[in-house]
Amino acid sequence: MELDIREIPSADRKQYMDLLLIGDEQPEMIAKYLDKGWMFALFVGGKIVSSSIVIQLYEKAFEIKNIATYPDEQNKGYGTTLLKYIIEYFVPAAEVIYVGTGNNRKTLDFYEHCGFEYSHTVKNFFIDNYDHPIIEEGKQLIDMIYLKKVRKS
Ligand SMILES: CC(C)(COP(=O)(O)OP(=O)(O)OC[C@H]1O[C@@H](n2cnc3c(N)ncnc32)[C@H](O)[C@@H]1OP(=O)(O)O)[C@@H](O)C(=O)NCCC(=O)NCCS
Repeated sequence: MELDIREIPSADRKQYMDLLLIGDEQPEMIAKYLDKGWMFALFVGGKIVSSSIVIQLYEKAFEIKNIATYPDEQNKGYGTTLLKYIIEYFVPAAEVIYVGTGNNRKTLDFYEHCGFEYSHTVKNFFIDNYDHPIIEEGKQLIDMIYLKKVRKS
């Protein structure tokens, strides 16, 4: 089936809120970056399956704020395809690309397979910033683990 990745302008992003909420459970958190940066969406046969929002932190640093694939489309390689596209898109401008995630082995592996490595930890991020416990893989997320992909050259 035909696969294509499109950039979604700010004005059109709200319609994909159900997908964004899979990547980040709290609407107030999404509101902080929804209109910022770049949103990319991966379509398969014209139907959206994955999306991601990337913002600029400072001149040569970017951060992936949200990446998600609909549950029934996960583990088919779409997330990796989108992540690799994002890396190639930003590599000319970026010295470093960050992503923050919960301490979930599966999610960490997903990024590490694309060359991300440990950067730093923000203690209690999920306690301090979310109004309800975030549970993944049966475990409550507490700290935010930041990974980074540094340009090699
Ligand atoms: C993480 C996520 C975007 C990966 O998308 P995807 O389309 O399934 O990605 P791929 O098929 O390319 O890769 C799947 C890999 O991600 C891992 N993975 C991470 N989180 C997962 C989850 N919640 N469910 C299933 N697989 C997950 C799988 O173990 C698999 O690893 P493998 O390649 O070693 O087998 C997707 O699982 C998802 O939307 N998860 C929920 C939201 C989330 O956690 N987003 C990241 C927040 S920082």
